[in-house]
Amino acid sequence: METFYETNLGKMYLGDSLEVMSTLRDERVNLIMTSPPFGLVRKKDYGNVDADKYLDWFRAFAKQFYRILSEDGSLVIDIGGAWIPGQPTRSLYHYELLIMLCRECNFHLAQDFFWWNPSKLPTPAEWVNVRRIRVKDAINCVWWLSKTPWPKASNRRVLTPYSDSMKGLLKNGYNAKLRPSGHDISDKFSRNNGASIPPNLIAIANTESSSSYLRLCKEHGLKPHPARYPSELPEYFIRMLTDKKDLVFDPFGGSCVTGEVAERLKRKWICVDTVEEYLEGGKLRFQELSEQKKKVPTYSLSHPGALWNGVDNEESLPSDGGKNRPSVQTPFVKEEEQSMEKDEKCRQLNLL
Ligand SMILES: C[S@@+](CC[C@H](N)C(=O)[O-])C[C@H]1O[C@@H](n2cnc3c(N)ncnc32)[C@H](O)[C@@H]1O
Repeated sequence: METFYETNLGKMYLGDSLEVMSTLRDERVNLIMTSPPFGLVRKKDYGNVDADKYLDWFRAFAKQFYRILSEDGSLVIDIGGAWIPGQPTRSLYHYELLIMLCRECNFHLAQDFFWWNPSKLPTPAEWVNVRRIRVKDAINCVWWLSKTPWPKASNRRVLTPYSDSMKGLLKNGYNAKLRPSGHDISDKFSRNNGASIPPNLIAIANTESSSSYLRLCKEHGLKPHPARYPSELPEYFIRMLTDKKDLVFDPFGGSCVTGEVAERLKRKWICVDTVEEYLEGGKLRFQELSEQKKKVPTYSLSHPGALWNGVDNEESLPSDGGKNRPSVQTPFVKEEEQSMEKDEKCRQLNLL
């Protein structure tokens, strides 16, 4: 297949990703980071598949994903839910997809994440705004899957800054006493570990009204992609699950956000989409990248990975997925675990 656009690190292809994947050798890819067309009830103009036909459609992709993924690689799927037409209940299609991927296709669920988009509009209007019997659906599921239980990964790459209250606690210390909740808090609770381990709820507002992508699309008379994910989402998983020079693949590339982030983080990448206009828009992202070579991410919400300052000092990820690291039975680790548990308790108390 002809390359649509390329950089030193990546390539974009216009066409069906099934075709592109058939040209990739087994275990070539380290991370598949993608957001497929959702099984939406209301069709979007890029041709969503009906919820009930979704699994049949996805199967062929899943088979190729498994084949091209390295043993220590990961498949990360951002997927939104859907409402059953005409009634205020939800489709199970994205949970069924997860079960199919694990039961039929042999993937392991490394962890389930939830992306909360606080700026989501309240829909469907009938249930949320008119009859007022449901609340705003503002969560996408993000399934992190792997070929073995030990994909390479490090949460150290996505640490999140301490909250102001936690910083205050660390600075001023904590009065050791038995709390009404029953937690016995000793003065060791306020140990400073530098940053917190993030939870599996990722908060990113998907508001991009003044981005350079939108501005450049407008300047070039191109329609922006209607269902983009924010760059912080692929950035989180690319940083946590790949090393520099690893290959990141997005089979449903859209406006090539995944490629842009991979390029910025010095990973190789391949993005595929069937719609030429989306890839034309995607090309503009790289124009912008070369204009401001040392782009350091700026985030309105404190989000995992925000502590990273662009300095190239990453340790390689453990290729055994951490299997041979000291376990909880190791005395030192036990101590470390206990201290982290205490930090967590401390944080909870602080919120009360
Ligand atoms: C949810 S969008 C992805 C958006 C993308 N993550 C972004 O932020 O711009 C899904 C994309 O999959 C593309 N698509 C659907 N079927 C495809 C196929 N068989 N091969 C390649 N792309 C496909 C659609 O054109 C659409 O742009």
